[in-house]
Amino acid sequence: MVSTFSQIREVPAFAALPTKAEFVEQLNADEYARRVRNGDFDLGWFNAAPDGTRWGQWGVRAQPSRRGLTLMDIDKASGLFPEAFAPPLAAPRGGGTEREPTTVNWGINERWEVWAENLVPLYEEACSRQWSATEDIEWSRMEELPPDMERALCQFNTFLTMAEYLATDVLASWIPKFNTYFHEIKLFLASQAMDEARHTEVFRKRIFANGGGLGQAINFGSQLAQQSSLADNILFGSWAFTSYGVHVVFEGAILSMFRFGEFLGKTDVDKQIFRMVMQDEARHVAYGTLHLKYMIEHAPDVERRLEELHYLASISEMFFTSFFFLHPTTLEACAILAGEGVDGMDKGLEVYKALYRKMREEYLMRIKQAGFDRTDRCMYPEELPI
Ligand SMILES: [Fe+2]
Ligand SMILES: [Fe+2]
Repeated sequence: MVSTFSQIREVPAFAALPTKAEFVEQLNADEYARRVRNGDFDLGWFNAAPDGTRWGQWGVRAQPSRRGLTLMDIDKASGLFPEAFAPPLAAPRGGGTEREPTTVNWGINERWEVWAENLVPLYEEACSRQWSATEDIEWSRMEELPPDMERALCQFNTFLTMAEYLATDVLASWIPKFNTYFHEIKLFLASQAMDEARHTEVFRKRIFANGGGLGQAINFGSQLAQQSSLADNILFGSWAFTSYGVHVVFEGAILSMFRFGEFLGKTDVDKQIFRMVMQDEARHVAYGTLHLKYMIEHAPDVERRLEELHYLASISEMFFTSFFFLHPTTLEACAILAGEGVDGMDKGLEVYKALYRKMREEYLMRIKQAGFDRTDRCMYPEELPI
């Protein structure tokens, strides 16, 4: 199979461009430019009534709340909450348009396809809780670890640097598909992309901060990248699938791994890193879970959609068990960390198995609360076969 990377299109033959002088001449002949030269301005936007046609509203004065001026505050003041269907336009929600607006096919135009009751506050939280991998981690307090522990942690973090790319690469490609009417989902995913960038950054920095180095990559990412393009992969065939696969299955498990990392971290710096990434990751999972709930409660033809989602969920769970939980680097690195060294791997393995059980339990509980019960259909085995 040809990889995605070799499929980047070549630049087409250059079309002939006018010379700069010809271009200026065209501008000179422009009807609007000619009118402005004669002092005749358009002012259509300026004189328009605030009725939502060419101008949105007028006289709105949003009041800042305790934290400052939030998106919730401006929605409350303007009353511009999202309706069920977005118009096929490139316009901000509530804004006016040109006299003859062009139609835009965004791809995703219905509220149930994107919404979650926590979406707006989650974006506000994402903005207020940004942190710096450079300055907010107390790198100067790094403490030496026994070499086997350092190596296991570097392996674990090597996996994580790659896992973070996966989230950004998959999710960011969806941003242009959402209608600008639902700006919240675009903003939230942009904040998530920044979160994931910082996660890759902090894990990479940790790898080089304490006498270790990068470990072995897992084929995990390339397994997906090799599917000719991410969009052709069934896991990412719709936003419902993508959000479920990434936010609920993948990041749900990663959140459990971060908690494990915080619990097992032997130095304060490592504990701090896992604590910081955990608060970001919890937001991503929270959106995915409440989006699932919203979709179940509002999507048309929900029974059919849920059947599709069950199928997709099974694939995601199988993929994740085989390529991640049973991968030698993940399993063994975690067993060494939990067992406090290579000599304690047997004991560490029991902790790893307990982590897996907990991850599975949390996952099933989370989706059940969202209205998606997979207790009898979940492909995660009750116990890892080790
Ligand atoms: Fe992340
Ligand atoms: Fe994440």
